[in-house]
Amino acid sequence: MVWICSPHNPTGSITPPHVLEGFIARCREAGALLCADECYVDLYDGDPPASVLQLAGDAAEGVLSFLSLSKRSGMTGYRAGAVVGDPDAIAALAMLRTATGTAAPEFTQAASIAAWSDDRHASDRRDVFNAKRRVLRDRFEAAGLEVVGSQAGLYVWLRVPDDLAAAEALLGAGIVVAPGRAFGPGGEGYLRLALVPTLEECERAAAAVVAVLRS
Ligand SMILES: Cc1ncc(COP(=O)(O)O)c(C=O)c1O
Repeated sequence: MVWICSPHNPTGSITPPHVLEGFIARCREAGALLCADECYVDLYDGDPPASVLQLAGDAAEGVLSFLSLSKRSGMTGYRAGAVVGDPDAIAALAMLRTATGTAAPEFTQAASIAAWSDDRHASDRRDVFNAKRRVLRDRFEAAGLEVVGSQAGLYVWLRVPDDLAAAEALLGAGIVVAPGRAFGPGGEGYLRLALVPTLEECERAAAAVVAVLRS
């Protein structure tokens, strides 16, 4: 079994279609099941990210996409999502689910059907996150700071000389960010900022971040 994640949490990077095709081909050659966590697939800026389901053919042989209403619809507490793809793998999952899963309450099922049936609210939600992302990106780039990844998802990443020192300095200014190293050694030298506050708060925070990091 091979797990991939695109759009990726936490970096917000999007895996290009030819790379996804490479994963599908190599997993098929190796007889491995390709499990793609695509729970951020609705939260992108610009062109929609490719899903493995678009590239795996009608039978989606050896490929599963994992989707969630937590990000698309902000329904985190509902614990609702979907697994879509290879019919044999879905049948095996359905059998496992009977033995080990729990049934979603009826109101959750009704809300999930409503959420999956409506793309408008997902598009509105995407617009809100993109507006915040652009505020941060524009402010940071205008100040000569380097934004990396961050094409999708809920975060913006900034390159800094020392992520721990920068996170502590920002904390002193009332702004909580995650030092990249908290996510592993590859995150050293980067800050992760969450697009969680309101647009107005993001605007104020962007100005404060620039003031701190440029001081
Ligand atoms: C990449 C990724 N996959 C899965 C999840 C979990 O989704 P859910 O809320 O549906 O359990 C998250 C939530 O943060 C996530 O970032």
